[in-house]
Amino acid sequence: MTGITQVFAPLGARVRLFALVVGMSFVAAPGVFAQDGVTDKVAPEIENRSDALDVPFVPSTTAVLDAMFEFTKPTRGDYVIDLGSGDGRIVIYAAKQFGARGHGMDLNEGLVAVANNRAKRAGVGDRARFYVRDLFKEDVSGASLVTMYLLPEVVLQLRPKLFRELKPGTRIASHDYHMGNWRFDAAKVVDGATRGEESIVYYWKVPARVAGTWKWTVSYPAYFEGAREYTGLVRQQYQDIEGRVEHDLQPMRIHDAKMDGAKIAFSITGEMDERIVRHDYAGTVDGNRITGTVTMSGGVQPSSFPWQARRTQADN
Ligand SMILES: C[S@@+](CC[C@H](N)C(=O)[O-])C[C@H]1O[C@@H](n2cnc3c(N)ncnc32)[C@H](O)[C@@H]1O
Repeated sequence: MTGITQVFAPLGARVRLFALVVGMSFVAAPGVFAQDGVTDKVAPEIENRSDALDVPFVPSTTAVLDAMFEFTKPTRGDYVIDLGSGDGRIVIYAAKQFGARGHGMDLNEGLVAVANNRAKRAGVGDRARFYVRDLFKEDVSGASLVTMYLLPEVVLQLRPKLFRELKPGTRIASHDYHMGNWRFDAAKVVDGATRGEESIVYYWKVPARVAGTWKWTVSYPAYFEGAREYTGLVRQQYQDIEGRVEHDLQPMRIHDAKMDGAKIAFSITGEMDERIVRHDYAGTVDGNRITGTVTMSGGVQPSSFPWQARRTQADN
């Protein structure tokens, strides 16, 4: 697709995660965890077992957790999954502070035991659970919120899985590493003044998958001779969509397109019975169906009509 650039994680950030593993002692920032044993340093013999895995164990600071949750805004209705959960602090924080439920997965059995103990000590053992599981192999479709602090290549490897499995509208927060050409929706630098190193938190909202061919009919008032049939050909790169809409083989380019979770909006502008007409489409995607409205303006009296489209061929 045009206009979309691939950005790579800065090497400095990648080196930092490794640098932190080698000998830097972690100090919990004051906050929800202060002096409750949830963010204490893990015994080195447990911590070191992660060195042989895809990502070593380096805990996120409380300031990073605050930034993750500032973006993702957990509530009691949320189910959080932390991919590579370490000592469990992210899911425990979400449960304790926001009443969310969730689980973490990690291949380091020692860390999983630490995390489950800490969840119990924090009084959220029923809502925050931890399992010995491989983050590449587990189904994550049950999450409404996903967090991760992994390495750049691991995050990129996970990208297709996250796009395929997660429900539209699911929020994702990642500490330090982004997903390349899955453009992040927001980012925040977490001040490192007190610890000497700043961090970045990236945020995404999962869009519905809409690539393919869509068909719909709009029933216009009599001055446009009733119903017209349209075909929409949509290309998608994550939340960015482009393409065209055809009526009687006359193509009109999609413009002002936007996806926000399951919500889709786009416009087409062109000639219709010798009038220049703009159509603004807005709807909600549910699998291979979209339901919403189309609003006409320009050389016509502004008016809205129901819009129902169905996908006849899926390209993702
Ligand atoms: C950088 S730590 C992040 C811990 C925690 N999420 C946080 O932000 O505080 C990454 C964790 O991923 C775990 N890990 C590495 N490879 C994994 C895999 N394939 N499946 C599950 N966990 C893995 C490591 O054991 C480590 O605890």
